Amino acid sequence: MNNQTNQIAFLGIKEDLTLSDLRYMLSLRGEDQSELFKISSSVKEKFVGNIVYFRGLIEYSNRCHKNCFYCGVRSGMRAVNRYQMTDEEVIEAALFAFDHNYGSIVIQAGERDSKLYTQRISQLISKIHQKTNNQMHITLSLGEQSPDTYRAWKESGAHRYLLRIESSSEELYKKLHPQDGKHLYSARMNSINALKKLDYQVGTGVMIGLPFQTIDHLAGDLLFFKQLDIDMNGMGPYIEHEGTPLFKYRDLLASREERFNLTLNMVASLRILMKDVNIAATTAMQTLDPQGREKAIKIGANVIMPNITPVKYRKDYLLYQDKPCIDEEAAECLGCLERRIRSTGNEIGYGEWGDPMHYRRRR
Ligand code: 5AD
Ligand code: SF4
Ligand code: FES
Repeated sequence: MNNQTNQIAFLGIKEDLTLSDLRYMLSLRGEDQSELFKISSSVKEKFVGNIVYFRGLIEYSNRCHKNCFYCGVRSGMRAVNRYQMTDEEVIEAALFAFDHNYGSIVIQAGERDSKLYTQRISQLISKIHQKTNNQMHITLSLGEQSPDTYRAWKESGAHRYLLRIESSSEELYKKLHPQDGKHLYSARMNSINALKKLDYQVGTGVMIGLPFQTIDHLAGDLLFFKQLDIDMNGMGPYIEHEGTPLFKYRDLLASREERFNLTLNMVASLRILMKDVNIAATTAMQTLDPQGREKAIKIGANVIMPNITPVKYRKDYLLYQDKPCIDEEAAECLGCLERRIRSTGNEIGYGEWGDPMHYRRRR
């Protein structure tokens, strides 16, 4: 073993990784990167096993009152055809997941907060539970809401909530969002804290490879996840979208290959740092590398979100360009993902909720 290999092995067992340890881990490439991956894979096997859990992803609506500079469905995008699935379509998708033994589903949409809307979500959650004999775990990803709304949804039967912090650096967050009083870092933090207080299983995450983002920001993001003691994580590469304000900074971006490598190193480093959390192999990884999700699973991720949105809506939910699975029906994605996961030597946790070990342990 050379010195470098020794040093990487040591980081695999070190208790309190520092900002500079993480910065170093994120910068590894080539053979050193492979060493990092060896360690993160063995941590995964030891703490969460080589099992991948499915969460059927329902992209419920692309209506959104926010205007994030990076996003392809931001309210300022005039050309986007706005939709909202009917209750029947949502139930049908949930039943597809149920019939195919997915332990859980995710309902994701842009952000809206009218009383009518939040009540409708509550009703939808109750209906899904009725139709699936309370056998499914439901994750929501519906943005910032008041603690009362989060409470109402939890009482209706939601178990988990995903709210990415996007960047844990307030200074970078400001560059990615309009300064109009509606996109406050502090409000986002309050939301995450409210979700934790309500005893949701809480997931957050960031985009990787953003303009103005440095390795220090990303190492800081990892420490932020640890400090918040999150249960779940979803991180993906930033992918520029032509119609958005951030597109003009595309010359500042690292190559797609570099952004992909950085994302893999973030996943591997988080697995080593937090060991028993659930980490998603995100769809955006597949945009940058045809085997992106499989690669993430091999080195630390243990959750995947097969898209079960009706195909007729998919082209209207393009948060970024070149999103995969635009024309594939749920059944096609399922077959495809099964093959992909088998190729990694992992099993699929059919019929299991796949709650994060971390959530169970911290309680
Ligand atoms: N590239 C990558 N991810 C994006 N998201 C939004 N826009 C983009 C983009 N251009 C992510 C955000 C958001 C999640 C639903 O999609 O992180 O939280
Ligand atoms: Fe709306 Fe989410 Fe897109 Fe921001 S990232 S504009 S909140 S859908
Ligand atoms: Fe959708 Fe492969 S996962 S087509």
